[in-house]
Amino acid sequence: MKKTVEEHAERFSEKATEYDDSKSDEYHACAGLVIDHAAPEPDDVVLDLGAGTGAIALGLAADAERVLARDVSEGMMEEGRRKAAERGLDDIEFAYGEFRDPELGSDRRVDIVTSNFALHHLSDDEKREAIGVMAATGARRLVLGDVAFFEEPDPNAPFYSPEVDDPATVGTLVEAFTDEGFAVTDIERVHDQVAVIVAERVRELPA
Ligand SMILES: C[S@@+](CC[C@H](N)C(=O)[O-])C[C@H]1O[C@@H](n2cnc3c(N)ncnc32)[C@H](O)[C@@H]1O
Repeated sequence: MKKTVEEHAERFSEKATEYDDSKSDEYHACAGLVIDHAAPEPDDVVLDLGAGTGAIALGLAADAERVLARDVSEGMMEEGRRKAAERGLDDIEFAYGEFRDPELGSDRRVDIVTSNFALHHLSDDEKREAIGVMAATGARRLVLGDVAFFEEPDPNAPFYSPEVDDPATVGTLVEAFTDEGFAVTDIERVHDQVAVIVAERVRELPA
């Protein structure tokens, strides 16, 4: 990670109130695809990691039983809570949680894990650890939208901020999902630096 968790949290809290108005077309396309691919059933519990102001969590709340939205930035979550209240959505729980420790409590069921435009803040080793944590929830489906490289990124047109972001290649992410017992069933190329990766569990958790 190029910044500490606390530095990322502070950075996002500072811009939380303007965050929703500053997004690119690729971001919106990516978020829409994450929501579409997550496709929860009415009795599914969704865990959304790096939930921010709730783009994914709010988009899924009407279709799922419950959404557990986890983030490290209180400012971003405060925006998310405000929007959920405005829309009368009471089945979303915004609470502190880090990718590698989402603080779910021992008896929380998770059926689907989503994450959009957030995992790229971690180094590749930390991403692998986070994907291991996603798998350990017992979820049957993981849907990740993020800055990720299909090919060598154009250094003159980075889709990220090299001083704070640390995107992986799509291949590294696919390998991390398969190592955790998932089959990658879909990869959407939103941009040559933005991917949505869908993975379904093929290996059960050890008893
Ligand atoms: C670009 S925003 C994306 C927010 C939301 N998922 C969306 O699609 O709009 C990235 C979010 O990741 C959160 N974040 C950064 N590092 C994190 C970490 N280690 N664990 C959990 N969340 C983190 C930030 O606080 C921020 O809210």
